[in-house]
Amino acid sequence: MTDRELMDVAVSMLRRSYCPYSHFPVGAALLCEDGTVFTGCNVENAAYGHSICAERTALVKAVSEGRRRGFVKLAVAGLSEDYCWPCGACRQMLWEFAPELEVLCANREGEIGRAMLRELLPHGFGSAHLNGED
Ligand code: THU
Repeated sequence: MTDRELMDVAVSMLRRSYCPYSHFPVGAALLCEDGTVFTGCNVENAAYGHSICAERTALVKAVSEGRRRGFVKLAVAGLSEDYCWPCGACRQMLWEFAPELEVLCANREGEIGRAMLRELLPHGFGSAHLNGED
């Protein structure tokens, strides 16, 4: 699957976004090494703090389906002028399962920016820290 195809899947998730409070739709598509793609969108709540981002929706769907490894790339689509990079909470959640993940972000023009999760979350906190290994 090409980057553009993966991003097209993320873009197609924008219409599933439930964002009546922020009016800021986000779509995500998480690619696994076997070609499986888990999708997500942001889902908001009247109690704002319980809202969940598109990236974490996709990740949690994947993990709840039994995937814990082999995540290769995450595409995130937004409709803002700038790229919609994952928020801090999403970076941390992704780090747990995919520290080597590549992240692609699209803006409303459909331009694609890219970065490694390692760049987005330097010195990420992981299980090794809890075990005193780092
Ligand atoms: N949001 C995402 O889904 N992903 C991001 O990377 C940034 C923010 C959502 C959360 C909320 O529903 C809305 O965008 C505005 O913050």
